[in-house]
Amino acid sequence: MAMAAGIDGISFYSSQYFVDLRKLADARGVDPAKYAEGLGQLSMGVVPPDEDVITLGASAAAPLVSRYQADEFDIVMFATESGVDESKAGAIYIRHLLGLSRECRVVELKQACYSSTVGLQLALSYVRAHPNRKVLLVASDIARYGLGTPGEPTQGCGAVAMVVSMQPRVLVVDSPSGYYTEDVMDFWRPCYSNEAFVDGKFSAKLYLATLEHTWNAYVRKSGLKFEDHDRFCYHLPFSRMAEKAHARLAAGVGSIVNGANRSGEDPPGLSVDPRIADGLIYNRVTGNSYSASLYLGLTSLLDNSREDLGGKRIGFFSYGSGCSAEFYSGTVSTGYRSQLFVEEHHQHLQRRTELSVIDYEKMFQFRLPTDGGNYPTPNYRTGRFRFAGLVNHKRIYGEAEATAARVSPHVGINGAAAAISGQELRTHDR
Ligand code: HMG
Repeated sequence: MAMAAGIDGISFYSSQYFVDLRKLADARGVDPAKYAEGLGQLSMGVVPPDEDVITLGASAAAPLVSRYQADEFDIVMFATESGVDESKAGAIYIRHLLGLSRECRVVELKQACYSSTVGLQLALSYVRAHPNRKVLLVASDIARYGLGTPGEPTQGCGAVAMVVSMQPRVLVVDSPSGYYTEDVMDFWRPCYSNEAFVDGKFSAKLYLATLEHTWNAYVRKSGLKFEDHDRFCYHLPFSRMAEKAHARLAAGVGSIVNGANRSGEDPPGLSVDPRIADGLIYNRVTGNSYSASLYLGLTSLLDNSREDLGGKRIGFFSYGSGCSAEFYSGTVSTGYRSQLFVEEHHQHLQRRTELSVIDYEKMFQFRLPTDGGNYPTPNYRTGRFRFAGLVNHKRIYGEAEATAARVSPHVGINGAAAAISGQELRTHDR
């Protein structure tokens, strides 16, 4: 077993519902090829009213943490840009739902899609200093742009949980990395808005420009070359973005390193390179999961690669609008396959329920009242955990079966909500 810092386990969860992007294209009067080929996306995950980033994150982490003792984790880090509270860290709910020790640090991290990577780097530093301890890092997001907007087909949702330790049975993360930050407005979501604002074309340009900056810094510090990497994982707002980024890096690597390839033109002969193809499989059907998306790509690569990747080096590009970015690499641990959740992940995606565009629109617009009353959420299919409703402005979470049973019968998305009692549901540690 390697004695270096890295990822000891990784698992993901998206929602139980999706929209087929061919049907969305029909509904919006768009050629379906634009979404399938132009964006490289087939479907997008949609959260029902009783899922949020907390339940997505806790459901992603549950199978993973069940392999560890509850008191092995010193920190639960929660990376999101879809937070449910301006003050309380989502990590507090997640630690509670997972039954982890209360002798634990908790924090929520934000910097658009990049926060998971800064979380990973902080967690690596922590375990290097405390080699017998572990950090649970959960990245969870719901991408929302608004009905009928150009960003709509790039929506999605998902969460990835990772255990960071000095005995990494999945991936040893290499140290140097190249990073870059700039104050720009390519994508942002003010506190008063439920949907992001985005300058889409500008954001894609920045993504590629920061790839160049971070790659240059990474190469300078590590001395590694493009050919030294067997696979690449890129942040995945939509899979075609990663294909473009990779083609840019592959075709222009010499000129990128020399700082000469700044034209913004795509290199000729764009096709899905086998060095990235397996990493795109999950994202094509879940859509963007912001902070989780790069690590959903890693999960997809590890789960779906026919070749044993043990000993192979993977390059990672993390981009978060606003913006900050990082390029780093890691080496897959020998025997990593026994740590994966391949069956569970495949079954989860296969068992999702398709929504009509009309039902998706209703789910998208659903809001619980915010007047402090008792409002249960309608009862849909969720992961292991469920957001059961609001009681006196407090969010109520619990095991899906227990909370659904209390709130049932199914009240429907437009239906009347029966009152729930905060005492009956899990609002705090007992
Ligand atoms: P758009 O303007 O509707 O699309 O929005 P378009 O006209 O640029 O078309 C998209 C592609 O489809 C183009 O390909 C078209 O040619 C092609 P390209 O020229 O770029 O290679 N196309 C077709 N292909 C086949 N058949 C057809 C057809 N028609 C057109 N019939 C945009 C696209 C991505 C801008 C929009 O969806 C958007 O704003 N999305 C959200 C922003 C985004 O995802 N940005 C990515 C980089 S920023 C990032 O990654 C950070 C982020 O994750 C947030 C965070 O950090 O938290 C977003």
